[in-house]
Amino acid sequence: MPINEKVGMGGPVDLALLPMNSVIGENGDLSIAGVNVLELVEKYGTPLFIYDEDEIRVKLQEAISAFGPNVAYASKAFLCRAMAELVVEEGSRIDVSTGGEMAVAMAGGIDPSKIVFHGNNKSTRELTEAISIGVGTIVVDSFDEIERIKRLASMLLDSSSKLKRVKVLLRVTPGVEAHTHEFVRTGQEDTKFGFSLASGAALKACEIIKESEEMTLSGIHFHIGSQIFLNDGFLAAIEAIGPLVNSVGVKELVIGGGLGVAYVNGEDQLSMKRWADEVKKAVKASGIAGDVEVTAEPGRSIVAHACITVYQVGTIKKLPGIRNYIAVDGGMSDNPRPVLYGSGYEAFLPREANAQRPMKARLVGKHCETGDVLVFEAHLPDDVEVGDFVATPVTGAYGYSMASNYNKVPRPAVVFVSLGQDRLVIRRETTEDLLRLDQ
Ligand code: LLP
Repeated sequence: MPINEKVGMGGPVDLALLPMNSVIGENGDLSIAGVNVLELVEKYGTPLFIYDEDEIRVKLQEAISAFGPNVAYASKAFLCRAMAELVVEEGSRIDVSTGGEMAVAMAGGIDPSKIVFHGNNKSTRELTEAISIGVGTIVVDSFDEIERIKRLASMLLDSSSKLKRVKVLLRVTPGVEAHTHEFVRTGQEDTKFGFSLASGAALKACEIIKESEEMTLSGIHFHIGSQIFLNDGFLAAIEAIGPLVNSVGVKELVIGGGLGVAYVNGEDQLSMKRWADEVKKAVKASGIAGDVEVTAEPGRSIVAHACITVYQVGTIKKLPGIRNYIAVDGGMSDNPRPVLYGSGYEAFLPREANAQRPMKARLVGKHCETGDVLVFEAHLPDDVEVGDFVATPVTGAYGYSMASNYNKVPRPAVVFVSLGQDRLVIRRETTEDLLRLDQ
C-alpha cells in the first residue's frame, strides 16, 4: 500500500515530508538520491544532516521561474561554501544579513553584484566591506545607516571604483501582523526592523536617499515574517505599500521570505508558484505600475524539506503512567526550534521508514536541561531500541544555521547526496575545534 494512505497518528511518517529523492527499499530502509541512509551514518557518524542536493537545485529553479532571476536565496536558513556554490550554479541572487554570511557567500564564488545585504544594525566595518567589494544591493534599515552609507560611499567610491553609487532597497514596515510565531513576525509597527509606513518615516527615508549623490533607490522591500501559510498578510502588506511604491516611482518590490513549509503529518503548504501568482495578482490589483519587478527572498522553502537529521538512540526511559523518553546524541544544539518556537517535527526509524509508529515518546537530546526536546509528541515503532538510528525530517532550515556548542557538544557533520554519490560539505567538529579559541 502506498504509505501516504496509512498516514495519521501512529501511522508511518508521511513520505511527502521526506526529501524529494527518497526511496524506501523492500526491507523498509531509506535511501536518499540512491544513497542508503544507514550506510551514511556508518560512514560519517551521528548526528548527521543529510541534504538531497538535487532537491535544493529544483527548489532554486522553482523560485527563479516563479519570481525571476533576481530572486535571492535567504542564506540565514542554511549556508556553507557548498550551499553558496549551488546558488552560484543555479543562478539566483543571495541574501546575506551579516558580514559573516557575506564572506561565506563570497567563498562560494558568488558575484558580489548578486549579493543583497540585509541587517538592522550593519556595522561600519560590514558596510565598508560591502561597498568595497561592490555588493549589488544594500537593504537600508535605519536613518543612522543612511548617514553611515553616505559617509562611507563618499570616502570609498571614486572614478576608479566598480560602483559609482550604492544601490539600495528601503525596508518598510507595512504595519501588518502575519499569522506566525511572534518571534518570527516582523511586519507590525512595534519592531526593530525597517521604516514605518504609517508614521511617514518610510517616505522621508525615500526622499533623503533620492536627494543623495551617493545612493540610488532601486526599490521597496518588506518582510512580514517566516513560516507563513496564509497569503492574506502578504496581500495586506502589498495593498498598504502600493501607494508608496507608486509615489516614489521605484521599479523593484521585494516581498521578503516567509513561505511556510509542512513539518508534520497532515500539514499542507502553498507552492512557490501559488505564492508568486497570488502576490503578483495583488500587486496588479493594488494599482502598482505594471513595470515594477516583483521578487522575493525565500530561505526555508528552498532548503527545509531537502534534509533529514539522523541521531542515535542512547537511552530509553519508560516512566509508567507518565511518559517514555527516548534520548539521542544531539538535541537543542543542532535543532533549537522546538524549544525556541515550540515547533513540531516527526520522528521515524530509517531502518523501517514505512513502519507503523504506535509508541508515543518524547524525543530528547543530551543537554543538561528539561527544555532540550527535539519532538514533544513523537510516534515511533514499538521495537525502537538503544543503538537504533532515529531521523527527523524537514530539518534543512534554521537547524544547522542556528546550531551551537552548548555543553561543549561538537556540531554535527553535513553531507550532500546526489545521483548515488555522497560528499561531506561540513565536517563534524572535534575536541580541537572546541578549544580553538581558547588562549
Ligand atoms: N528576508 C528577510 C529579510 C528575512 O529576515 C528572512 C528571515 C527571510 C528573507 C527568509 O525567510 P524564510 O523564507 O526563511 O521564512 N529562525 C526562525 C526563522 C527566522 C527568519 C528570519 N528571517 C525559525 O527557525 O523559524
